[in-house]
Amino acid sequence: MTMKHLLFGASSAAMLLFSHSSLAGEAAPCLIAGWENPASVCAAHTKTIAATCFICHGPNGKSNGAIPSLAGQDKANILGAMHDFKSGKRESTVMQKYALGYTDSEYEALAAYFSAIK
Ligand code: HEC
Repeated sequence: MTMKHLLFGASSAAMLLFSHSSLAGEAAPCLIAGWENPASVCAAHTKTIAATCFICHGPNGKSNGAIPSLAGQDKANILGAMHDFKSGKRESTVMQKYALGYTDSEYEALAAYFSAIK
């Protein structure tokens, strides 16, 4: 096996690792936790952060309790709410803390994810 083969092997392993990414092929790999590169949002990253919402908003954003469901909400409403929580324009008990923890591209991904659930 030549050096060229070895290098090729390593780069295809990297492609496999990052094959979850909808950005596969672009320069920045989308890592699952995403903290290393929060600007890069892929499907696996979105699922990971959306799951942190389930504990209060219900599995898949379908609430059984007093906290509103996110599933099927208008994307623009979710986005607007996140921005208003972040700025404090909309009062909240806990949502400002969550809104502060995510980037605009993560808001986009979360809003698209929950609005698409039927
Ligand atoms: C610890 C519980 C908790 C978690 C976790 C949580 N939320 Fe919330 N969420 C709330 C509560 C409570 C409200 C009502 C506003 C308030 O008091 O903070 C709310 C309100 C909202 C609203 C407004 C909904 C509406 O119909 O008015 C949106 C949008 C929202 N949350 C999105 C999210 C997203 C996205 C996540 C995950 C990143 C998340 N929340 C995680 C508790 C939570």
